[in-house]
Amino acid sequence: MSSDASFTIKPIAKSVGDRTNFGSVIEGLDLDCISDGNVIALADAIWTHKVVVVKGQKDLAPLKQWDLVTRFDPDAPKVHSHGDVKTFAEKGGVLSASREVVGIPGAENVRLIGKGYQGDDHYGIKGMDIQKRLLNDFHLHKLPEKDFKAGITRFQRWHIDAPLYAREPAWFTTLRYIKRPTKPEITIRWDDGSGYSMKTEPGLTAFISNVQTYELMTPDERATADHSWVEYAPHPFMWIANCSGRPNGLGLEPEGKEKSLEELGDYDPKDIKRYPMVWVNPVTGERSFQVHGICARRLFLRSSLTEEPRVIDDVDEIRAFLKPIQERVLKPEYVILPKTEEGDILMWANYQVFHTAVDYPIEYGPRTMHQTNIGASIGPAEMGLFRVPVSAA
Ligand SMILES: [Fe+2]
Repeated sequence: MSSDASFTIKPIAKSVGDRTNFGSVIEGLDLDCISDGNVIALADAIWTHKVVVVKGQKDLAPLKQWDLVTRFDPDAPKVHSHGDVKTFAEKGGVLSASREVVGIPGAENVRLIGKGYQGDDHYGIKGMDIQKRLLNDFHLHKLPEKDFKAGITRFQRWHIDAPLYAREPAWFTTLRYIKRPTKPEITIRWDDGSGYSMKTEPGLTAFISNVQTYELMTPDERATADHSWVEYAPHPFMWIANCSGRPNGLGLEPEGKEKSLEELGDYDPKDIKRYPMVWVNPVTGERSFQVHGICARRLFLRSSLTEEPRVIDDVDEIRAFLKPIQERVLKPEYVILPKTEEGDILMWANYQVFHTAVDYPIEYGPRTMHQTNIGASIGPAEMGLFRVPVSAA
């Protein structure tokens, strides 16, 4: 931690029975005029606490939010991790299909994300009404409409903000809450046979820590995870554009709807990403089981550096391997939905957690958020416990 940090960090409010070990609230920072020392200290805090709520940034100019993410990673190419808005619309596949994403005029790398009417003039965006498919439409087995209208909802899709092709995932994502409804309470239902559910305010983002996933693994599972790697599909979100998710938001239903490589059109083999399964926190040294299962096309499994890897290239087999490990942490006591007020900026360590949106009925009110991040200068391939062998790919 930088010695000249001049802000306070407090643990996030936890509910009874909570077993999470991440999430903090930061006060006493003005991001409009943040010193270089505090930028470093804030980055350290995000790595350390995984998810932080930076309070009181109501008047921050959009360009300053972008400015901050470029200062977090000064060596990174100056572009959003998903590329420009046009690239995202063309190649975003399942990510861009269900939502309308626009850049803020004059700060195009800051994306307006929301729901409903965004106001007569939102930083130069005039009278925009974001109408889109319900986030819960991603699930193959749909939540009944009458349940949704009654305030029951689901996790949409657990993920990291990562293109998993060409550019590297952002170390951090920043999400400023400009407007959201705070009531009535909604109930998130797993609908996966577990019977789990949890209550929360509407309009929040949910997180699980994959450091905790790693902690819950058996010694044998960890030995495999520590030495194994994943190859992601080229243009992975186009690859799964026709696929649907499981009701708890983790993983895809086995429908065989992944596109063939021919259907994906042109891709550059050198842009295909091969990442270790375990990513090491550069500040705390913690290990995170960070596998974006829905985009994984091949697993290379081994439990030592010298062993010949076992290659799994059947997507159902890949998901069968991942599901019991990743679902272990998907329980109410390991999930946080940081209570973020208008003007707060939520920031998270994308290399350590999964997050997901949680939809709510539009009758509760509109939601307006500004999201930005930057494709990292140093990616997960350099944050593992070993170098992924090039020749085995
Ligand atoms: Fe996201």
